[in-house]
Amino acid sequence: MTTTADTTSATITPVVEMSAIRKVYRQVLAPEQKPGLLARLFGGKAGREANNAPENPAAANAPSGAETGTEMGVDASSEAGVEVLRGISLTIAPGEFVALQGTSGSGKSTLLHLMGLLDSPTDGTYRLLGRDVSHLSDDERSHLRNTALGFVFQSFYLVPYATALENVMLPGMYSGLAPAELRARGLELLARVGLADRVNFKPANLSGGQQQRVAMARALLCDPGLLLADEPTGQLDSATSHEIMRLFAEVNAEGRTIVLVTHDEEVARRARRIIRIEDGRIVSDETTATAPVSP
Ligand SMILES: Nc1ncnc2c1ncn2[C@@H]1O[C@H](COP(=O)(O)OP(=O)(O)OP(=O)(O)O)[C@@H](O)[C@H]1O
Ligand SMILES: [Mg+2]
Repeated sequence: MTTTADTTSATITPVVEMSAIRKVYRQVLAPEQKPGLLARLFGGKAGREANNAPENPAAANAPSGAETGTEMGVDASSEAGVEVLRGISLTIAPGEFVALQGTSGSGKSTLLHLMGLLDSPTDGTYRLLGRDVSHLSDDERSHLRNTALGFVFQSFYLVPYATALENVMLPGMYSGLAPAELRARGLELLARVGLADRVNFKPANLSGGQQQRVAMARALLCDPGLLLADEPTGQLDSATSHEIMRLFAEVNAEGRTIVLVTHDEEVARRARRIIRIEDGRIVSDETTATAPVSP
């Protein structure tokens, strides 16, 4: 048997490789039964502390309905459940900037949560960074989430009683950095997103755009290869939204892969690939001409 000398093209491992992914919700959990998103995001101690905090941040920053998956109005007694993703196959290569679009309820957040290991598919296979993640334990999923992925959400999900710097350092328990290094990295990231003079501010004293910058800095703490964003500009005016998109473009230019859910056509045009989902299926997948994000 002959072997090929060409090892370059064959060795690029996709960041995301999904095959025939289905998601069926069989049960709607009451809000008090569901772990808060912060707990799911950071897992372990950081998530527990954040979630059990006196001023529960999940409650304080809680988005409604679709983002949390609660109060969906789905009949919990329905035997068959609700099939929300109906066979999604999708490959995303390193360095891509992908926008996910679709009408409300089409399954965008569900798909993003599966990509981010915040939820598991009912069927299908998912390889993240070349690794089959179907059979990982909760701890392994938390670890992978906190070392390889960064998240940004419409509702920021900052811990309200913690300063900007403390919020950025929150996923730091997975970074392997000593406390002083972690702090230095947090300060460096806050400076990078233009908040060097706000490091000790609490979220309530920051504007929406500034809170989202803190969330971006936090998402970058562990130097993730893949950034997942769900309507990151959904609560921002157009000028602020433009600034946030400029940050995403910079982060993408560093080689990080981005998957961003958005309703906003202008935001979607910043991506180089637009995937549209309807009723749990991919209905189009187009590579676009790059729209440069002007300064
Ligand atoms: N935990 C859950 N239990 C039951 N049904 C759910 C749950 N989470 C989402 N759904 C249902 O799945 C479908 C897709 O929801 P999803 O949040 O993924 O939509 P979306 O495309 O992100 O919508 P939006 O644009 O409004 O955010 C909806 O019909 C929703 O009611
Ligand atoms: Mg959504």
